Amino acid sequence: MSDLTNFIATNADWFYLVGAILFVLTLRGLSSPKTAIRGNRFGMAAMAIAVITTFFLAEGPILWMIVGAMVLGAVVGMWKARTVAMTQMPETVALMHSFVGLAAVAIALATVLHTEEAYSTITRLELFIGCFIGAITFSASFFAFGKLAAKSWAKTLVGGWVKPVQAILFIAMIGFGAVYFMTDSLPAFYAMTVLAIIFGWMWIAPIGGGDMPVVVSLLNSFSGWAAAGIGFTLGNSMLIIAGSLVGSSGAILSYIMCKAMNRSLLNVLFGGMGTTAAAAGGDDGAPKNYKAGSAEDAGFLMSNASNVVIVPGYGMAQGRAQNAVKELYELLKEEGVNVRFAIHPVAGRMPGHMNVLLAEADVPYDDILEMDEINSDFASTDVVLVIGANDVVNPSAKEDPTSPIFGMPILEVTKAQTVMVIKRSMSTGYAGLDNSLFYMDKTMMIFGDAKKMVEEMVRSINGGGH
Ligand code: TAP
Repeated sequence: MSDLTNFIATNADWFYLVGAILFVLTLRGLSSPKTAIRGNRFGMAAMAIAVITTFFLAEGPILWMIVGAMVLGAVVGMWKARTVAMTQMPETVALMHSFVGLAAVAIALATVLHTEEAYSTITRLELFIGCFIGAITFSASFFAFGKLAAKSWAKTLVGGWVKPVQAILFIAMIGFGAVYFMTDSLPAFYAMTVLAIIFGWMWIAPIGGGDMPVVVSLLNSFSGWAAAGIGFTLGNSMLIIAGSLVGSSGAILSYIMCKAMNRSLLNVLFGGMGTTAAAAGGDDGAPKNYKAGSAEDAGFLMSNASNVVIVPGYGMAQGRAQNAVKELYELLKEEGVNVRFAIHPVAGRMPGHMNVLLAEADVPYDDILEMDEINSDFASTDVVLVIGANDVVNPSAKEDPTSPIFGMPILEVTKAQTVMVIKRSMSTGYAGLDNSLFYMDKTMMIFGDAKKMVEEMVRSINGGGH
């Protein structure tokens, strides 16, 4: 046993290097649905190497505590992974980030309490930053979890007092951190930690539910930086590398989401659309004409087309229409129609929302195309079927410089010959804006619930029309 311990301890850096490479391969794998499962396996292997190596590096470990915690964690993790529904994924992820933050705080506190050593200035700086980022991540992610899971305690805070209170908390938190840094005062460290926990909550609580996905992605990034900070304190290179990978990938995802929504991160975090969407923008009041059609008409048009592109949006998720959509897709394929799906990066309400639903319904990946891949094909498309999408196909994002979403990249469906839109009414989408697509000559509105309408289309194609 001691030979094994020696071997692992003396070669720990090599094990960590292999783990780090596997973590990079994990991210690479997760970049496409086809390779995502392989990516996850790399991640599991990397984590196993990291945990086992670190286990053998511990000096005088209390075995029953470490093994007990690992077994308990593994049991809860496996149970959660098996039982969580796809729709509960965002809140589960938020809860996990909360635990990462809590772990960073616990490690920082344990290190600070380990008072036999006097810490160097640099270590005090790492502890101070690692702990407050961890504490903010902990409470902010916990709030995000509550908000996404619609818990009654996760109430959105509104009012003019919120921003000044946030500012005071932030300044006081940094102030106590600075006192700890300069004087090594333990009470100042505790005060900073408590203030950071309150600040994290107060910071996220005013943000509306719709913007929570961006917040969760940002907190994911924070949890990574907190872990990296603690990695420096513990002198653990694996934790520094893994934390930095999580930190930077979370930051990149937050940036991509904001860009695709044409919002700045500051706008999301400090006063945004999430809470006021319904009231924003909209109509000039003049009545406008639109054409309404039936599901049978749509079925007839699609089964006689050569190229059909389906654009799913939040309404497909809301109406749980993905299985009916898969049936429609298969039926049209059988009729010899070239059918593909066009996915906007922020369609729905969470990253990859549409991809997850279509994967759940077993739609082949090859026919699911990202915005950049399919935008140039709309000009040669006969029929576009928009299912419960609105903002992501709103031409004003390209044409109207006064529109709040001007500059947001959209799926350019207006280039197709005919556009059919399934939604229940003429009401607006997430951004609260009217959509000129609905009033175009080439557009036919099909009013009704997404699932019901798609099922009717399937029936009409199966029955050969009217
Ligand atoms: P939205 O613009 O929100 O439009 C969805 C449309 O679906 C609504 O206009 C609604 O119209 C319709 N709908 C709702 N339930 C339906 C049902 N059961 N059957 C049929 N139609 C239904 O959706 P989108 O085009 O997917 O755009 C997403 C928006 O969310 C963007 O503004 C984006 O910036 C924002 N957002 C996205 C994310 C991520 S990461 N995806 C995160 C935060 C915010 P009716 O009420 O008339 O049916």
